[in-house]
Amino acid sequence: MSKLMTGPTAGDARLTIRHATADDAAALAAIEAECFPPAEAAGPGAIRARLAAYPDCFWLLCDDSSDDGGAIVSFINGFATDRRDLTDDMYDDPSQHDPHGAWQMIFGVDTVPASQHHGYASLLMRRVIADTRAAGRAGLVLTCKDRLVGFYARFGYVDEGISDSTHGDVVWHQMRLTF
Ligand SMILES: CC(C)(COP(=O)(O)OP(=O)(O)OC[C@H]1O[C@@H](n2cnc3c(N)ncnc32)[C@H](O)[C@@H]1OP(=O)(O)O)[C@@H](O)C(=O)NCCC(=O)NCCS
Repeated sequence: MSKLMTGPTAGDARLTIRHATADDAAALAAIEAECFPPAEAAGPGAIRARLAAYPDCFWLLCDDSSDDGGAIVSFINGFATDRRDLTDDMYDDPSQHDPHGAWQMIFGVDTVPASQHHGYASLLMRRVIADTRAAGRAGLVLTCKDRLVGFYARFGYVDEGISDSTHGDVVWHQMRLTF
């Protein structure tokens, strides 16, 4: 288990960012179920399959001052690929992950509801962007709902318009951050 960083500042919590292991599957699936409606949430099976294929493409923000020590408060995941656009087939097909892929796809950004609006997703996103840049990739791609376009634009993501994705029967914007 790799500890990537300790002591970032977002309130009083003692925060650590690390990649995931198979042991995190149940906790991550539970957070996903809290954050998304059933049609959009990645279920336990999908999370386990992703973790088996690309644990290093999960970034977990953990609160080391929590009662159970190291509770996950926010996480970001997605695989890397040379394909430029984020399409629905990617969510449940971890075999497409290419460790040398040019683009870091973002399939989910989740903060536990009780921990939202503390800057946790922002803190984690900045780390994901920094790691993706350090990995030599071309940039990152995500899809999001209308209301979050402004949130991601703050990090430098550019709205490319409505995605072909129909995931969860929702209209998604595709956004790209190019280095
Ligand atoms: C979207 C989501 C990931 C944001 O997580 P978060 O940890 O609350 O995000 P942040 O705290 O970094 O930023 C969110 C807001 O809090 C504000 N904020 C940041 N730091 C803050 C602080 N210290 N105190 C108060 N507010 C703060 C930000 O300005 C931002 O404001 P906005 O909502 O008006 O844009 C979270 O709401 C979530 O999991 N939602 C459900 C799943 C989802 O929709 N995910 C995105 C899929 S595309």
